[in-house]
Amino acid sequence: MSECSCGHGEEVNVEFPKELVSFINEWKVKQGSLIMILHKTQESFGFIPRAAAEQIALMTGIPLARIYGVITFYHFFKTTKPGKNKVSVCLGTACYLKGGGDLIEEARSVLNIKPDEVTEDGLFSVEEVRCVGCCGLAPVMTVGGETYGKLTKKQLPEIFEKYKARG
Ligand code: FES
Repeated sequence: MSECSCGHGEEVNVEFPKELVSFINEWKVKQGSLIMILHKTQESFGFIPRAAAEQIALMTGIPLARIYGVITFYHFFKTTKPGKNKVSVCLGTACYLKGGGDLIEEARSVLNIKPDEVTEDGLFSVEEVRCVGCCGLAPVMTVGGETYGKLTKKQLPEIFEKYKARG
């Protein structure tokens, strides 16, 4: 990803890895390919920067408005860069029944952020996910890929402190 040189510090360009370019070229001719392309793009950047959406429009000929229509329709797609430590709270059935909903609210309250926001220090963002595959440990949360199971709200501040200490 590169910054523009206009002096406003705005991100205007993203460099697509070769793998993403060939994926788009392979998929753009297939029907219903946009979602696949957006998934792959988010996998590459962790979110879908505006410049990436513009580049997809150029590469595929799909109007930018349509691309944004899809991005904003599906909760899964993010247009803002996630925090360094992405907090994912599972709201799959098992976790939801064991209090996943309370956990996600508490996580946002402890970190003082709303959905789609990142903490001021850039360290955390909180998102909901569906079943991360360890329902026996419900309710489950992952932070930067590390899994925490059988969680209670009380444990959250201590867990976040650990990541703050790492910086
Ligand atoms: S429902 Fe949360 S891990 Fe399966």
